[in-house]
Amino acid sequence: MSEALQNRRILLIVGGGIAAYKCLELIRRLRDRGASVRVVLTSAGAEFVTPLSVGTLSGDKVYSDLFDLTDTAAIGHIELSRDADLLVVAPATADLMAKMAAGLASDLATTLLLATDKKVLIAPAMNVRMWEHRATQRNLEQLMADGIHIVGPNEGDMACGEYGPGRMAEPAEIIAAIEAHFSELEFSGAQPLKGIKALITSGPTHEPIDPVRYLANRSSGKQGHAIATALARMGADVTLVSGPTNLANPAGVNVKRVETAREMLTACEAALPADVAICAAAVADWRVDVDATQKIKKEPGAEAPALKLVENPDILATLSRLTKNRPSLVVGFAAETEKVVEHAVAKRKRKGCDWIVANDVSPETGVMGGELNTVHLITGEGQEDWPLLPKQAVAERLARSILAHFEKKKAKA
Ligand code: CTP
Repeated sequence: MSEALQNRRILLIVGGGIAAYKCLELIRRLRDRGASVRVVLTSAGAEFVTPLSVGTLSGDKVYSDLFDLTDTAAIGHIELSRDADLLVVAPATADLMAKMAAGLASDLATTLLLATDKKVLIAPAMNVRMWEHRATQRNLEQLMADGIHIVGPNEGDMACGEYGPGRMAEPAEIIAAIEAHFSELEFSGAQPLKGIKALITSGPTHEPIDPVRYLANRSSGKQGHAIATALARMGADVTLVSGPTNLANPAGVNVKRVETAREMLTACEAALPADVAICAAAVADWRVDVDATQKIKKEPGAEAPALKLVENPDILATLSRLTKNRPSLVVGFAAETEKVVEHAVAKRKRKGCDWIVANDVSPETGVMGGELNTVHLITGEGQEDWPLLPKQAVAERLARSILAHFEKKKAKA
């Protein structure tokens, strides 16, 4: 068992949802791993689990608004969060998320969440339509922009009889996210990927039509940049070759900004040798076969210009098939809109990469440009289906898989 939770102090805020019953199991497992758990039960949460059962499992007093007046004398709001290493909200209801996003402090739980400077992890749980509602997604984006970590929700049958995303992550998944948080803190000192050189492509490419127009796609670069950040945080020497994005350069990463697919390939080749290459860019498959040095003019009555497209170099396939300087681990992404895994398995073979991260980019998923991603990691050894996660969590999980790969390789050598 991991030692990551030994002597950690968790402040668990239990919101009002049917998934609150899972917090009992969560408390037990956290304490089994050596953590201490102090629980704040919202008044809605107390409709689903009793202070008595929560307090028995946590071995501590349970804090709620009912005790507010007497408790503030003994232990103030600020102390409650100051005493914790991490705040966990499980279940995080649509209402709690909205209040957090708006910065409200209308009860003990929301006051603590606003008064803390500690990391906060939330495990959303709600009806599928509430989760998919634009308002909740907007709040989610705000919370992520505010640095809140998110685990889940999962897809499945719901207590309300519907099916879809909205089920709270299982206690084991929440524990894994909490452990990841603490091991990330440890990584900041230990740097387990020190000595590993990583090359990452990210963002779209812009293929010029003339000096002012170009062909592009909807990629934001969020996933590729998050991977660069995660690997750099674990100590890797990271070069990020990025197409045009609005994102800031990740800290501690060597960034090469390019416009076109051909420039991206040249920059990647210049960054070799590398131990691992991750191609997360949405490279334009085609470019316009023109050499217009002046803006194409719209002559009155003339026909619209016909654009002839020619194929761009495939960066992932090129890196995978290098005979000299091939990175020992080449990871591709597969952006698919149907038969996601089947197409990705074929793509892995066709491109010659070692792993492929398959994601569904059909418009209804909102993956392109959005904050969340559901991926399947396909390696030579099998397939892992990851739950719906923020891109930052996908990046951290991929970074940990890469670390495990290199540790296994080192152990074999
Ligand atoms: N890729 C690349 N260079 C290209 C096209 C794609 O490096 N010219 C990489 C992407 O970065 C990604 C993988 O190849 O890692 C798959 O990209 P995707 O757009 O899913 O596949 P395509 O090759 O474009 O195939 P299709 O459009 O037919 O799905």
